Amino acid sequence: MYFPAYRPRRMRETEILRRMVRETRLSVDNLIYPLFVVHGKNVKNEIPSMPGTYHMSVDVLVEEAQEVAGLGIPAIMLFGIPNKKDEVGSGAYLDKGIIKQAVRAIKNKVAELAVITDVCLCEYTDHGHCGVITDGRIDNDATLPLLAQMALSHAEAGADMVAPSDMMDGRVGFIRDKLDKNGYTGTPIMSYAAKYASSFYGPFRQAALSAPAFGDRRSHQMDPANALEAIREVGMDIDEGADIVMVKPALSYLDIIHRIKQVYDLPLAAYNVSGEYSMIKAGANAGWIDGEKVMLEVLLSIKRAGADIILTYFAKEVAKLIHS
Ligand code: PBG
Repeated sequence: MYFPAYRPRRMRETEILRRMVRETRLSVDNLIYPLFVVHGKNVKNEIPSMPGTYHMSVDVLVEEAQEVAGLGIPAIMLFGIPNKKDEVGSGAYLDKGIIKQAVRAIKNKVAELAVITDVCLCEYTDHGHCGVITDGRIDNDATLPLLAQMALSHAEAGADMVAPSDMMDGRVGFIRDKLDKNGYTGTPIMSYAAKYASSFYGPFRQAALSAPAFGDRRSHQMDPANALEAIREVGMDIDEGADIVMVKPALSYLDIIHRIKQVYDLPLAAYNVSGEYSMIKAGANAGWIDGEKVMLEVLLSIKRAGADIILTYFAKEVAKLIHS
């Protein structure tokens, strides 16, 4: 009987051999942990749609930031939930705004942790849209100055990086210009470059109370059917000055991550979004899947597809496992 000389199973036989030839590894260095900050004191409320994640007031957030830094996670991504929302999302750039308070407090106490801020109006507008509304439509060009103002205000508060997630055309260049003109030439931009109009954001919109009051986000977020357009979008953001580009969501868009990685050499981030997180939590809570193993497999697949950086609500859990 003929048998090939090479038997792939030989190198799979023991963990020591598997470890030696493993091609992809998760590292704590590549994780970004998203966190939600609210007004108040001593607030730590679990977000029902995302078990294990919380709304935290600034004092609690600072303690959390200490724990995150202690686990070796290099960065957090901050989302603010304001007290009051209005038509133009003023809470996003006010001096007393929740994000500015949070950034200052964290940078004061946990300076080694990189603080990245999400730049988008949807958490701050009363209509829940990512931009200003003119005649019932999201007005791209009227939104750009507000986004730039928001990014600048975060940089002034001490943010180490800003991350525009709004998907308005031209916003990366607009923000870059505003930061540069105000002396923040050294503040990097991580752009949500290929952000799809995805139903996987559902749990987040409950968490951030940012579901649109009418319509949806398909006039600015990308059509899930498109891949070539993602390459074009990423290219535009790079031309406009992005330092890190992101694909979002991750799991249903592994092909996009892979393709972008073949075309561009910038650091590539992928956002393992709320729906991807909550599905695993739900499956695990029901006893249908091994949550820990599925989490590791999913995150590994995102890395294997080509992501250098992963934004994930699992960051603390993974970091603890990697260290154990
Ligand atoms: C917009 C923003 C969203 C997410 C990150 N930034 C929501 C949206 O576009 O509706 C989603 C993150 C997630 O689902 O985990 N500020």
